[in-house]
Amino acid sequence: MAAPTQRKRILVTGGIGYIGSHTVVLLVEAGWDVTIIDNLANSSEICLDRISAITKKPEAVKFENCDLRDYNAIDKVFKEASAVSTPAFHMTIHFAAMKAVGESRQIPLTYYDNNISGSVNLLRVMDAYNCKRIIFSSSCTVYGSVAKSPLSEDSPVGEGLTNAYATTKYMMETILRDLYSCYPEWTIIILRYFNPVGAHPSGLIGEDPRGVPNCILPYLLQVLVGRRDKLTVFGSDYPTRDGTCIRDYIHVMDVAQGHIDALNWVDKVRAERPSDSKQGMLDVFNFGTGNGTTVFELIHAMEKAAGRPVPHVVGARRDGDLDSAYANPAKAANVLGWHCKNSIEQICTDAWNWQSKNPSGYDTVEK
Ligand code: NAD
Ligand code: WQD
Repeated sequence: MAAPTQRKRILVTGGIGYIGSHTVVLLVEAGWDVTIIDNLANSSEICLDRISAITKKPEAVKFENCDLRDYNAIDKVFKEASAVSTPAFHMTIHFAAMKAVGESRQIPLTYYDNNISGSVNLLRVMDAYNCKRIIFSSSCTVYGSVAKSPLSEDSPVGEGLTNAYATTKYMMETILRDLYSCYPEWTIIILRYFNPVGAHPSGLIGEDPRGVPNCILPYLLQVLVGRRDKLTVFGSDYPTRDGTCIRDYIHVMDVAQGHIDALNWVDKVRAERPSDSKQGMLDVFNFGTGNGTTVFELIHAMEKAAGRPVPHVVGARRDGDLDSAYANPAKAANVLGWHCKNSIEQICTDAWNWQSKNPSGYDTVEK
């Protein structure tokens, strides 16, 4: 058995998915070794080559093709990691989940199995290997339809949830709070992302959803590259400045940076405590810009970035859509020192750079 070393390794579940891959790039650039667990349900292994192309450190990333619903498979990953370092992982950043809102209404049990049972398996293995630090990907969706924007971390959550996906995020937050109340040595950071969009400025990695995109930006990009005829704007009779819904679109690189800031903050807080302290922490942060953009404003920004029109029609409202949802990001700024650097224009420029270079996503055949 290899001797334990002091080299620190982070576990990233869902690490070749959209937000995970951008975060892995920043982790590697910050000097971390990373183990990725991903079952390829909504990702491509080509992403691993792209991460290496950006970081130039292929040796820093280890990929484990495994499913979080398989307890033994996760246990094996931890067993192998614990043979070379103690603890096996410094921290787990847990992105892996199914995330399509509409689909979650069709197959709710699959969503509960994947997002809840998979996460509970992960927590159980982490517990068994004494790896009790986790950053969890939650969502603004937990604020439901009752809380009013700007949404702060203390706005009501869990009321007016309209789909199983949202419920899985709310239930996972509840499970993590229960865990912490029983075992305060756990460190649990819950991050509620608003609408992550955009891509790495290299254009090598970006969002590449399987099937018909649910979210507006990937759909709009597929219209721009001719994979879809037109975008349907879901309603223009909302009580907003131009009648279309307002959302808080945030650059994925800002979201990724927020994980590095959260990780560094946890380490700083822990370092300030007495070395024998067993006290963990639980905290929750919004990751949004605080600025709302309407659907028409997003279309116009994208047209400017791409230099071509976005064919679109106005259709009916989509069930369950809120007229306006945006964050109050003050807590993340004040506590973590995290600030969004990218404007909606930069988001569109980077998103277009990715999609125009990779019109079929990771399946694009290089010419
Ligand atoms: P994504 O689908 O691109 O990435 C998730 C990854 O997890 C995929 O690579 C998928 O293959 C993997 N995965 C799913 N189930 C798994 C399982 N059982 N075992 C192993 N791997 C599994 O999604 P994303 O946009 O990168 O989202 C990451 C996280 O952020 C998710 O938890 C999502 O719910 C949350 N989130 C996303 C958004 C958004 O709009 N993108 C907004 C708020 C919250
Ligand atoms: C944005 C706006 C639509 C598609 C989703 C998830 C939520 C969270 C954040 C994960 C809305 C409009 C959309 C289209 C349109 N994700 N639209 N035509 O609804 O804010 O939330 O992302 O946790 O759980 O539900 O994002 O991109 O679907 O929609 O006009 O074809 O674009 O009506 O106003 P949403 P979205």
